[in-house]
Amino acid sequence: MVQESLSLGISIVEVVGNIDIHDNLSQKIGILNYNHWFDGMAMMHRFQIEDSQVTYRSRFLRSDSYKQNIERNRIMVSEFGTLALPDPCKNFFQRFLSRFEMIKPTDNASVNFVKFKGDYYVSTETNYMHRVDPDTLESKQKVDWSKFVAVNGATAHPHFDPDGTAYNMGNSYRNKGAFYNIVRVPPERDSPEDTLEGAKILCSIAPRDKSKPSYYHSFGMSENYVVFIEQPIKMDLLKIVTGRIRGKSLNEGVFWDPNQETVFHLIDKQTGKEMPVKYYAKALSTFHQINAFEQDGFLMLDICCSDDGQAINNFLIQNLRQSGEALDEVFCTFEDLHGEDLKDYGGLEFPHINYAKYNTKPYRYYYGCGFRHLVGDSLIKMDLESKKFKVWRQPDLYPSEPVFIPSPNAEEEDDGVILSVIITPVKDKSTFLLVLDAKTFEELGRAEVPVNIPYGFHGVFNSSA
Ligand SMILES: [Fe+2]
Repeated sequence: MVQESLSLGISIVEVVGNIDIHDNLSQKIGILNYNHWFDGMAMMHRFQIEDSQVTYRSRFLRSDSYKQNIERNRIMVSEFGTLALPDPCKNFFQRFLSRFEMIKPTDNASVNFVKFKGDYYVSTETNYMHRVDPDTLESKQKVDWSKFVAVNGATAHPHFDPDGTAYNMGNSYRNKGAFYNIVRVPPERDSPEDTLEGAKILCSIAPRDKSKPSYYHSFGMSENYVVFIEQPIKMDLLKIVTGRIRGKSLNEGVFWDPNQETVFHLIDKQTGKEMPVKYYAKALSTFHQINAFEQDGFLMLDICCSDDGQAINNFLIQNLRQSGEALDEVFCTFEDLHGEDLKDYGGLEFPHINYAKYNTKPYRYYYGCGFRHLVGDSLIKMDLESKKFKVWRQPDLYPSEPVFIPSPNAEEEDDGVILSVIITPVKDKSTFLLVLDAKTFEELGRAEVPVNIPYGFHGVFNSSA
């Protein structure tokens, strides 16, 4: 139970997680002793905080993939308590690549909750999403991006303008090659059945090598620009498409090429035109952006990245900015957004900021997970002015993505709370929803859940007050 002072209106946190299918799954949904963490069927979690009471609900997404697995009684069992937590980025890869398989793409939307036109959807990286009821967690509708725009998938990390206009990215494949597309979804709803109606491709970008496009999990957005990072994590489409025949795994078609530079594409959100200047940097790999903003003629892009292609295991935070004076080509340099001491915490991922007030704007704080499984994971708050950080960490406890929620009428950027679902493999410890004071990073309360919750990816907060 959390302290009463935390009942800031009505608060709901939803986290998409993953879990393997157990043989008794069809008998009980949601309240099970889930003991396995792995890449499995999408499971949604909902914490409702109201009048200092916290209620928890979870539900497997009734995707077609889920139904088929149940029908076939296909049981996937993983190791328990090894602390070899599923590498989230590896799972992202597999989802992203699934679109290349010669089979129907999965609708097991297990990466994130996203909002279009005021409705909640669960999303993965294929062309399918599910519109869900945030109260009951029931799937209301399976939605196919490709019915609205010519894309074969979309990221689970769209960006939003203050008016609700959404931006996303997805690939399309034509003329024996791939294109990166930026998609805009209007905020208005024309009818109750409206889903992605009115979505338009804002810009299509040809990869440097159409047969070997880059993998991307997300993208950046400032007030006036979409920033797409074409990184040297490449996908060999021929190898991927023929891998099944050759008996090779999908991952064999993905490669890191340290000799290729990273290219930053800047697309004007108003005109849909790409900036003619080529912005590039040395090879880096990235999954999540922290923020992007325009300041004093510069575009600042803050991202979690690695310079050795090992973004999956080795997260670093770097700040890339434009430098140099060339007209047509600009080599970008970076500034670390942290001191050397962050390395003791294994780097940082799942970044969150005060998105509502500071996305696309200069900001001071970001929050994230430090991954250091052997000594325990941590929650981290970084102060970009001092480059000092605060840490929450306890033995045998593994935090999920920290979600920042501003206090009502907050004036300071970090006036609010951090919510994170904390899991543990230790049997005499409990899973719980942790509430931290975002300013001090002191614990304000925790709401223990009498079941094990699998390790999740991303969460969102919604206030219905
Ligand atoms: Fe992600």
